Order: sequence, then C-alpha cells, then structure tokens
Amino acid sequence: MKLSDFGFTEGINEIIAVTFSRDGKINTAPIGIIVEDANSEFAKVRLFYSHTRENVVATRKLWANLTYDPIVWVISTFEDLGEEWFESLNPPVIMNSLAWCEFECEKVRDGNPAEFKLTLKDGAILRKWLRAVNRGFNALIEALVHATRYRINRNPSLLKKIEECRIIVEKCGSRREKEAFKILLNHIR
Ligand SMILES: Cc1cc2nc3c(=O)[nH]c(=O)nc-3n(C[C@H](O)[C@H](O)[C@H](O)COP(=O)(O)O)c2cc1C
Repeated sequence: MKLSDFGFTEGINEIIAVTFSRDGKINTAPIGIIVEDANSEFAKVRLFYSHTRENVVATRKLWANLTYDPIVWVISTFEDLGEEWFESLNPPVIMNSLAWCEFECEKVRDGNPAEFKLTLKDGAILRKWLRAVNRGFNALIEALVHATRYRINRNPSLLKKIEECRIIVEKCGSRREKEAFKILLNHIR
C-alpha cells in the first residue's frame, strides 16, 4: 500500500481531515498533506492550533477524505460536518468521497505549526469518478485558504484576493461552487 494508490502526488495534497476527540466527537477540516515520495506510505502535515490538532495529539489518528464536493469543503472550513454527512463512521467516510485513507500520526516538531509524521495504515478507493479541471472549484479552494487567514488577521488585501476568486467561480463554477462561495462570504462578513 502506498500513497499514490489513493491519489496522492508529490507536493501538497488538499484533503478533508476527519478526526475524533477523546470523547468521540467528530471534526472535519481541510488540511494539506505534504508528500515527498508518493510511492511510500509516509507523509507529513503541519498543524496550527485547531480542533484537528487537539484531536491528532489526543488520538494519534487522522482519516483523509478525497472529495470534490464544494459544499463539503466550505462547511468543513468554517464548521464541522454532522454525522448525517457521512456514509460510514467506521471508517469515517463523507458522503460521495472518492477515497479515504487512515493515517497514524506522530508529533515530530512542536510549535505553531507543529509537524506530524503520518504513516498510511489503511484506505480504499470508493468511486472512480472523472471531472475535468474546473477553475471555479480551484478558485473556491484558494478563496477558502484566504478566508481562513482573513478570519485571523482581517487583512483587507485578502478580501481583494477573495473577490478575484469570486469572479472566477461565477465564470467557471457549477451551481454548487457558486452556492459554496455564498456560504464562504456569509462567514467572513
Ligand atoms: C485548502 C485548505 C488547506 C488547509 N491546510 C491546513 C493545514 O495544512 N494545516 C492547518 O493547520 N490548517 C490548514 N487549513 C486551515 C484549517 O482548515 C482551518 O483552520 C480549520 O478551521 C480548522 O478547523 P478545526 O478547528 O475544526 O480543526 C487549511 C484550510 C484550507 C481551506
């Protein structure tokens, strides 16, 4: 079993991380998994203080879900998906995810962000679904990154970048990207 079996490539792989608190509460957040060798089972992740980080420290487990659902991305960024969004809770699989992977996590560097070594333990491809590159989806993901930063520092230059993304989403996105972008805007207003 290797990372490339589940769609990971060299570089930063954006996935929805599903983690559990010690008392079993589910958490979802977009996270970038850093891969140097996709033919191995090793990766790393840098986590700022967040519920995801707390859960990873507490349980040493993280499940990655690969998905192109814009609504899943936007809700996971600002809130958490409830159990009704999952087609399975063991392993945790968000409705319509293309693949899931289970990682064992070991903290290798403290700080903010802290760095964790990830070891692939299990996984499955659930759907072989094709989608042509959609600039609207990509722009939504960029805007979500800007929005998570904007929420921390309120830097107006980020609003300008988010507006540039909005124009691309309007031009290139599907109805679902446009709906997701509206949810994003509601969260930063
Ligand atoms: C595309 C994308 C990638 C992200 N990657 C990371 C990451 O690698 N590390 C991190 O600490 N936060 C990352 N974030 C920010 C977290 O998703 C965000 O802080 C989230 O609110 C954390 O939620 P939680 O407190 O429920 O864990 C990313 C956000 C987006 C939109």
